[in-house]
Amino acid sequence: MLKINWWKKLSGVVKISGSKNAALPIIWACLLLRGKIILNNMPKIKDVETFLDIISEIWAKYSWKENSLSLDTKNLKSNKLNYEKIKKVRASIFLLSPILLYFWNINIPFPGWCNIGKRPIDSHLNSLKSIGFDYKYVWENIEISWKLEEWDKIINSGFSVSATENSLIANVLRKWKTILKNVAIEPHVMNLVDLLRKAWADIKIRYSHEIIIKWVEKLSSDFEFDIVSDYIESGTFMVLWALASEKYLDIKNARIWDLYSFIKKLEESGVKTENLWWDTLRVYRCENIKAVDIQTNIFPGFPTDLQSSFAILQTQANGMSKVHEVLFEWRLNWFVELEKMWVKLALLNPHEAIIFWPNKLVPAVVNSWDLRAGMAMVIAWLITEWETSVTQIQYIYRWYEDFVEKLQNLWADIEDTSQPMTHIL
Ligand code: EPZ
Repeated sequence: MLKINWWKKLSGVVKISGSKNAALPIIWACLLLRGKIILNNMPKIKDVETFLDIISEIWAKYSWKENSLSLDTKNLKSNKLNYEKIKKVRASIFLLSPILLYFWNINIPFPGWCNIGKRPIDSHLNSLKSIGFDYKYVWENIEISWKLEEWDKIINSGFSVSATENSLIANVLRKWKTILKNVAIEPHVMNLVDLLRKAWADIKIRYSHEIIIKWVEKLSSDFEFDIVSDYIESGTFMVLWALASEKYLDIKNARIWDLYSFIKKLEESGVKTENLWWDTLRVYRCENIKAVDIQTNIFPGFPTDLQSSFAILQTQANGMSKVHEVLFEWRLNWFVELEKMWVKLALLNPHEAIIFWPNKLVPAVVNSWDLRAGMAMVIAWLITEWETSVTQIQYIYRWYEDFVEKLQNLWADIEDTSQPMTHIL
């Protein structure tokens, strides 16, 4: 449980951590390198710990030095994977490709739905099937076997982030040429491409959401690589600065160009920003917020993962704001928590909602439906007078590194009264 006291005078500088959505697929991709690699700017979060726990059971070795993770995947053994741990992390879907390269057939739990949507994996399975995978559903599991097909292939990634990443990992060592069409080009997908290229993979990117992969005999290892900083964490702090800073706050490693669409919407709502030296953004407190409509989209559009933080800004706007969540059919459900805080809103359908004119948020005990909505709750409580609390905070710990400490360093009055984190579900 997080106890948060109202505070609208945050001050200081925050440095954005490495991206969770880049770290997870990159850890799986390192299984292909069959050697040593140092991953810098690696976020120390629960899901990374869980992934390392899973791969250590197939004899991958790892050690930490602050935020540098040393991995050694030279001597992988085909021991049994721990399906109970795999089931707990949805992003284990990235596991399909690298593990199949060694085990040739695996039986992993179906990743299933989550609070933001049904999260189908048809794009993943169809992409893998088109290069020779065969799969069948066995109760809650998927049994996958692979008779590798070695000739040129064209694969539709369906603009899915994780399906694009799975296809990159599955085809980088496959003979001969693979053309991925309708790929996702989010910053974390490009970070994975950069890692594979640094390992001598032959990958070209075309403007039309297309990636061309040519076969290479072997990938290299024994190098260092930087995980990209998290543009979603950066955008979340931008909203917080606009609402709760004393005058302004600076964000280092802000990923300004990855957030072009988002920052344009911030500025449209009256928030002033200033590009300082290399990738540092100054965001000023905004007292008179204008209502703006947002529509989430695939990159480089407005990120769906920033929909909930931006909604807190919209609750303080003068006027009626519309939210159109294009990607996930349940991602507006968390608005029930906003209604507990007496926010005047209308859910028009699973994808559209309207937030009405400025609301004085009223304290309540609210839940975090997913990690992004959880952080949105934290922002809401930092601008709400009186003490409040947020439960179900395990999601936030899974994916936001040291967020309580970061906020305490900015003079926020926030405390985690829950027991030390055990393994989360
Ligand atoms: C990734 O999820 C991210 N997760 C999500 O971040 C992010 O919200 C999402 O991309 C969109 O940017 C990780 O990278 C671990 P998708 P992913 O496949 O890959 C449909 C967060 O908060 N779809 O791009 O699962 C799907 O239903 C998390 O950090 C299919 O129909 O998202 C959705 O409507 C939440 N079939 C849309 O595509 C498929 O096979 C986008 O999904 C796959 C997806």
